[in-house]
Amino acid sequence: MRISTKSIHVGEEPDTESGYGDVVSTIHLSTTFARKDPLHPTKGYEYTRSGNPTRDALERKIASIENGKYGLMFSSGLAAETNMFLSLFRQGDHIIASDDLYGGTERLLRKVLSNVGISYELRDLTKSSSLEGIPGNTRLIYLETPSNPLLRIIDIKGISKISREHGLLTAVDNTFATPYFQNPLDLGADIVVHSTTKYINGHSDSLGGALIANNDELYEKLKFNQNAIGAVMSPFDSYLVMRGLKTLSVRMREHESNAEKVVSLLKGSHKVKKVYYPGLVEHENHDVASRQMKGYGGMISFKLDADIEGVKRFAGNLNYISLAESLGGVESLMEVPSLMTHAGVPKEIREKYGVTDDLIRLSVGIEDPEDLIEDISSALERV
Ligand SMILES: Cc1ncc(COP(=O)(O)O)c(C=O)c1O
Repeated sequence: MRISTKSIHVGEEPDTESGYGDVVSTIHLSTTFARKDPLHPTKGYEYTRSGNPTRDALERKIASIENGKYGLMFSSGLAAETNMFLSLFRQGDHIIASDDLYGGTERLLRKVLSNVGISYELRDLTKSSSLEGIPGNTRLIYLETPSNPLLRIIDIKGISKISREHGLLTAVDNTFATPYFQNPLDLGADIVVHSTTKYINGHSDSLGGALIANNDELYEKLKFNQNAIGAVMSPFDSYLVMRGLKTLSVRMREHESNAEKVVSLLKGSHKVKKVYYPGLVEHENHDVASRQMKGYGGMISFKLDADIEGVKRFAGNLNYISLAESLGGVESLMEVPSLMTHAGVPKEIREKYGVTDDLIRLSVGIEDPEDLIEDISSALERV
């Protein structure tokens, strides 16, 4: 099966047991499962935190579209990350992460993991030379590509190879690209991380996260803590994500096609200083993006030739693009990372890698592109 077929059919086998033949998988809302015999749970299910048929169906679907053997669903992207870090690392271990990182991930590393003795450092992983001098207690290379918010591109194959040579694990946050455009496991990564809140669900109505892996031992550790820590995805959210995923391919094609049109508009505007989009030939790692991705996605960042008042005027004059955090839904959203998603990252850290107050991040939705172009053009005129 190709990805469009998998995202529709895996986990949605027609129900022959109820006798109704539903072609959509049932939502099993029950938190517990009755059994006839204390030692043998009915069909293996005991309690929804440890296993639920709806969540299992989604876990099979998400593993399959990432070309992975195992999938695990969590209550948010950060819950998935926390589960991974706490399952695999302990006091004294060290993590190297890419420097342009989702603000919440950076906060988790800085404010939570450091308290339990797991240290980290941020490096510019767009250059493989940045992995020279790996401290002896390093256990993981963690990267986002395309990164949030600067859409930097990291060579997954190159970094995973160096990481493996040093006996380290590599985890890739694939939230921005989605498995429609990029499959990190095929490129040598050990673990794929998703905030399913974004494109995977695609409709801005479910918070969730996922981990996908191929290795049996890794999976056992992650699965044990999924239950032991308990930050699992609810059955109802699992159903929403199952439903959202069915249109992943068509949504991603439209997101990308609209993004390309918006990029052309922004590039031609004298109100815009710089556009960040991996599909642009002048993007610093465009060649790596072309090699490892099947498309460039629906996220764009750009710098307005304006101060913060100009940025506010731009946001205030948009009709169809809400000023809101998050991304990857069918509706277009814009945000100012320095004041919103990345406000928790210390100013000196974020400004060092380019997240300044004039930076705008745009999640291009799948509205009619002409409406989006008209809306953005008129807001730019008012900057
Ligand atoms: C790239 C990336 N990873 C992880 C997360 C965290 O996901 P969640 O908000 O579902 O916890 C986000 C949230 O914006 C994100 O953009």
